[in-house]
Amino acid sequence: MKIDVLLGLQWGDEGKGKIVDVLTPNYNIITRFQGGANAGHTLEIGGDKHILHLIPSGIFHSDTVNVIGNGVIIDPYILNKEIDNLRLKKVNAFQNLLVSKKAHLILPTHRLLDAVYERAKGKLKIGSTLKGIGPTYTDKVGRNGIRLGNITNRKFIDKYNLLKEKHLRILESYKWDEKDFLIEGLSFSDYEKSWFAAVENLKSLKLIDSEYFIDQSLVDHQRILAEGAQGTLLDVDFGSYPFVTSSNTTCSGVCSGLGVAPNRIGKVYGIVKAYCTRVGSGPFPTELFDTTGERLRDNGKEFGSTTGRPRRCGWLDLVALKYAIMLNGVSSLVMTKADVLSGFDTIKVCIHYKVNGEIINYLPFEIMNEDIEPVYHELKGWEADISNLTSLDELPQEFNDYMRFIEDFVGVPFDIVSIGPGREQTLMINKNL
Ligand code: GDP
Ligand code: IMO
Ligand code: MG
Repeated sequence: MKIDVLLGLQWGDEGKGKIVDVLTPNYNIITRFQGGANAGHTLEIGGDKHILHLIPSGIFHSDTVNVIGNGVIIDPYILNKEIDNLRLKKVNAFQNLLVSKKAHLILPTHRLLDAVYERAKGKLKIGSTLKGIGPTYTDKVGRNGIRLGNITNRKFIDKYNLLKEKHLRILESYKWDEKDFLIEGLSFSDYEKSWFAAVENLKSLKLIDSEYFIDQSLVDHQRILAEGAQGTLLDVDFGSYPFVTSSNTTCSGVCSGLGVAPNRIGKVYGIVKAYCTRVGSGPFPTELFDTTGERLRDNGKEFGSTTGRPRRCGWLDLVALKYAIMLNGVSSLVMTKADVLSGFDTIKVCIHYKVNGEIINYLPFEIMNEDIEPVYHELKGWEADISNLTSLDELPQEFNDYMRFIEDFVGVPFDIVSIGPGREQTLMINKNL
């Protein structure tokens, strides 16, 4: 067996959570491989909205095993809260959730470091979700981190204090003052207490060596789907650096974040929103600053699932999409939020960039400094509300033309179209998934 992968092809928030939930009946195991609680994956089931940050989006299916892999970084406070919220919804996460011992921990002081680093950057701030992502991955790579498997070790508190002291020395150099920073609405001391209480609760989790578990599951013919977080254009290597997150959000992250060999990667689903959004700072060539951009934000309810910030909106960028497909080896495309484009007279897609008067078909290295002008192709829009359609035959011709244009441009077919946030608002083009 091979492991299938589902990931975002833009700047995150493509609707990955919804599509994972829809595909979960086809899988035995859903697993996260990178990122942390900077992710916010929304599922709408029977009119109820659920936002998951760390727990894989298969958790609402009682017969599915959910695995948090070694490449994910875990804030015990947030994971514990997420488990509590699920309990209120009658989902017992302790039953169906396995977590890698090798996943690194986000300490309260990592959250403070994130905040002081962002503050120090001033105008050049990344627009981080401030969940401690950058500092925790830094400590992992710098070989200073603490892993989830350490929480049951009697030296855990010594390790914690050692790392905390190191962080406090850095914080002092930034003239940190405790009263300036709240974490999840709490003072540092209160947050630290709750963090330790959460660590105690998490001792009841099933902690595993997830690389062995995944390997054995593949041998046992279990079907596994790896759920990406963030998006390809936020990848630490290939995104618009430094306006990126601190993990490999691309398919390669599955290998390092789960311990899966490259030849065991199977189908790769690439999720693409029908237009583009971005939350936080950084380049966005097709961003719209006019009423069309506002209309996309209003129609698409484009406000962050993790921070509530308004998302920047713009037309679909096929140059960037083609790049994302190349990096991930996407074999199957999924279009989300197609319903949001209803009612536009014309719809634009970016097919080239113009940089210093020259037409180019790639993302330039100096994407921050270059004055990138998108070159658009215009297609006719459609009037009809498509959010309640139940069959592909009912889709307007103009919508089909939009999909065909994208498929021809990037050379990969659409297998699924999402026409609303609900599970049932999904049209399967490929019936053999
Ligand atoms: P993720 O991070 O990729 O899982 O995406 P988010 O959950 O952060 O953001 C996607 C938002 O769009 C959520 O509010 C979803 O409920 C919603 N959504 C997903 N698919 C569709 C769709 O096809 N149409 C509409 N209108 N909303 C959708
Ligand atoms: P999902 O999984 C959208 C963005 C932040 C910021 C940059 C770095 O829901 O698609 P970080 O917190 O990692 O230091 O932030 O990346 N970002 C996301 N944007 N969706 C996400 O996740 C994101 N996770 C991080 O806004 O610009
Ligand atoms: Mg999201």
